[in-house]
Amino acid sequence: MPQETFDLVVAANRLPVDRVREGGRSVWRRSPGGLVTAMESVMNDRDGAWIGWSGVAGKAPAPFEQDGMHLHPVALSAEEVRDYYEGFSNGSLWPIYHDVIVPASFKRRWQAAYEQVNRRFAEVAAGLAAPGATVWVHDYQLQRMPQFLRELRPDVRIGWFNHIPFPPVELFMQLPARDALLQGLLGADFLGFQRRADAQNFLRACRQLLADEQVSVRGDVVRMANGHETRAAAVPISIDTAAMTELAATTAVQDRAAEIRRQLGNPTHLLLGVDRLDYTKGIRHRLKAIEELLREGQLAATDTKLIQVATPSRERLAAYQQIRDDVELTVGRINGDHAHIGAPAVTYLHRSFPREEMAALFVAADVMVVTPLRDGMNLVAKEYVAAHDDDGALVLSEFAGAATELKQAYLCNPHDIARTKQTILRAIEATAFERAPRMRAMRRQVQRHDVQHWAARFLADLAAAPGQP
Ligand code: ADP
Ligand code: G6P
Repeated sequence: MPQETFDLVVAANRLPVDRVREGGRSVWRRSPGGLVTAMESVMNDRDGAWIGWSGVAGKAPAPFEQDGMHLHPVALSAEEVRDYYEGFSNGSLWPIYHDVIVPASFKRRWQAAYEQVNRRFAEVAAGLAAPGATVWVHDYQLQRMPQFLRELRPDVRIGWFNHIPFPPVELFMQLPARDALLQGLLGADFLGFQRRADAQNFLRACRQLLADEQVSVRGDVVRMANGHETRAAAVPISIDTAAMTELAATTAVQDRAAEIRRQLGNPTHLLLGVDRLDYTKGIRHRLKAIEELLREGQLAATDTKLIQVATPSRERLAAYQQIRDDVELTVGRINGDHAHIGAPAVTYLHRSFPREEMAALFVAADVMVVTPLRDGMNLVAKEYVAAHDDDGALVLSEFAGAATELKQAYLCNPHDIARTKQTILRAIEATAFERAPRMRAMRRQVQRHDVQHWAARFLADLAAAPGQP
């Protein structure tokens, strides 16, 4: 029987659901991260196929339908998980694309696995795409795929969106695979980035690193020797704002938020951090600032509490084991010094929660503290704005893509601990009168620029891109 084909095919390293073991059984659970949060709500309104890895090494589960979407698992062997996912994607690219907060490593074996897996994704997409279909490729794990797919299926429109920053050329050029990565992306018709600076970094890399006979760059378009053109522009991602606001307003979520505050002894100030446990998120810097404020008596653990949700992530990588150890040590020390029996200063939660519980945390928190050292966007900041009422405050790092849009946040440089402490204090001490206009302006921004708006803009830009000669 011929395989069913689709007018829209999404390709991401992960499927929206992950195969995990629970109570001795294998079950599907929502995958971690902002990519899935955003694309899940986009795909709920559209027919299409989503290809991605199931999260488990070995044979791929059979394709299946979920929420009107065709999910098509792509197999990764244990060696490929190690070399393509943990190695090249998260040991080479992730650090380079995030300002080398930890050193990057390069191995030729990793690069070969990246090629092989990107080729496999292209082959699967080529088989699922209807004639003239749109294929929407996502993120840093699949930068070679657009070129491979164009070779197999010159008839399809190919778009790629980068959920993370694109690095300045001085960092990008460290990558031994730099030319191949650029060539891979230039297989696409349209490339979407979180910020203008990211798109410009990409264009500058093409101009500087590819030979004049290979490409010419005019404005935001790169033209290859064969005539194919690729446009690069900023299309900042967002959240399903209405859905988050609605969920937050339900009685169940409001009651749960009140219960969370009660369980913490109804603190005067409840601070919240929600991050994947990643070294890019600045959790250490945040804890240091809060620890100093407690030690100096500028904050009192009797009336100020912090909840830190730290979602498990990439746990086999040494840099992630290190950040986990550091965070857990610091939380232990803060509680040892400042907690009372039954009343921790920091409530640390290292696991995933249902959306309702996340919404309740956003509603409960007086101050949301988002302090990444580098972040493509940071959807958590937008989720807080959508969920919380006017009497809230967002402390936001200048190094998160979200800072470009959420200008009324209490902006900070997390490397500057002294100023970060002052900013946290300002947010805590701000009156309702000062907070309300800031929260309202930020809410308007995420209402106008929600994830549906983002997807529509991306797809319109892709359709309008010059593409083939
Ligand atoms: P990243 O994509 O780097 O993980 P984002 O802030 O952009 O960061 O997106 C994270 C997404 O994951 C948000 O939608 C957030 O609500 C969700 N999330 C984070 N931690 C948890 C958790 N412990 N349980 C459930 N959802 C979580
Ligand atoms: C970020 C990346 C995503 C990734 C997610 C979770 O949001 O942009 O591509 O899926 O983190 O990371 P993981 O390695 O678990 O897929």
